Amino acid sequence: MMKLLKGRVLSYVGDPFFEGVAATRLEEALVIHEGKIVAVGCSDDLSARYPAAESLDYGQALISAGFVDAHVHYPQTAIIASWGKRLIDWLNSYTFPEEMRFSNLSYAETVAERYLDLTISNGTTSFCSYCTIHPESVDAIFSAARNRGARIWAGKTCMDRNAPEGLRDSAQSAYEQSGRLLEKWHGKGRTSYVITPRFSPTSTEEQLEALGQLWAANPSCLMQTHLSEQTDEIEWVKSLFPTARDYLDTYERHGLLGTGGLYGHAIWLTEREKDRLKEVDASLIHCPTSNTFIGSGLFAMQALKSAGHRIGLATDTGGGSSFSMLRTMAAAYEVGQLSHSALHPSELWWLATVGSAKALRADHLIGNIAPGMEADLVVVDLASTPAIAQATARAEDIWQAIFPTIMMADDRAIRQVWINGKIAHSQ
Ligand code: GUN
Ligand code: ZN
Repeated sequence: MMKLLKGRVLSYVGDPFFEGVAATRLEEALVIHEGKIVAVGCSDDLSARYPAAESLDYGQALISAGFVDAHVHYPQTAIIASWGKRLIDWLNSYTFPEEMRFSNLSYAETVAERYLDLTISNGTTSFCSYCTIHPESVDAIFSAARNRGARIWAGKTCMDRNAPEGLRDSAQSAYEQSGRLLEKWHGKGRTSYVITPRFSPTSTEEQLEALGQLWAANPSCLMQTHLSEQTDEIEWVKSLFPTARDYLDTYERHGLLGTGGLYGHAIWLTEREKDRLKEVDASLIHCPTSNTFIGSGLFAMQALKSAGHRIGLATDTGGGSSFSMLRTMAAAYEVGQLSHSALHPSELWWLATVGSAKALRADHLIGNIAPGMEADLVVVDLASTPAIAQATARAEDIWQAIFPTIMMADDRAIRQVWINGKIAHSQ
């Protein structure tokens, strides 16, 4: 059944970091059919062209591509907002004990469903997740996402040192298990496998080498890891890899730097690291609520965008303190302000949709509203609380109307979510 959705339809025709608001379009309606967007434009025109379409009128609500969260750890759902630690202590105290529980498929399935409920009710329709070392944790999230029709990326998190017994694999088992999971899930419907060494402190050179080989053999896969998140972590990497030129080199020399590489955090980069990341057109993933929550530092958005880096936005649940990409945009704004650069709402929204889709090399499929794109949509109430409504009432343009929602809204603003052309959440 064809649907005609009316509201304030936001899309992008360019990158607002370079073209400003000229990169944006605001239209009145779109038509979806069989999971795809087939037309966008003026409401009367589309009604006339598609008379059989069932019409849904969202009034003044914003209709956008669903949010794309480019870096999450779904197994950390239950330990979100754990108090008082910095990165390494936080991993040891909260993360590793929780991740241990995912050897149990039924626990993994429970958390996978809960994570999907939470992220979808916050308007996120696609995400790229770390799992745990357990293959069960990968099966759980892919199965749950497949049942909901969601386009997701995920991979087994590989660790063969500096993690507790029960949470370590080996170079060989990481290679073999990742390979089997890749065969099972990569490119099946809307699921994509991501090769996932957690970060160089928890992998031996042998494991990094093995995963580099797996990536070389499967170049259509993305590869995700963490890079230069916290200064103490960087010192630790130096001591573990005394001959490496820098943190990035611990990946680079094992074939883990490339197009299709996703590098989470990327806060404390050297000039060489920035140059190499740019040269290979790798993706940097900004995780602002995590970087403030764990006390990691300020991502240099403006400088990195100006230099032409590919950048996505992410919650980093549960190092990040929210499931919401609205809250994440607000944190990106605040981090920008602390670096003396005010990100425009069009830039923040772009990062959470097109930017993350580009980071995942999927901007031809998701992250925007245009004919031929997959019908993953979020309908956002721009007056979802009295505080937001009274601020928005004074807005003189669409960006002033959107910004209070970016800064102050939560899941109450998410009126409806469409995944693959079907309603996945309503309130
Ligand atoms: N570095 C290595 N593992 C993790 C993780 O789970 N969360 C964050 N924020 N950083 C990491
Ligand atoms: Zn992470």
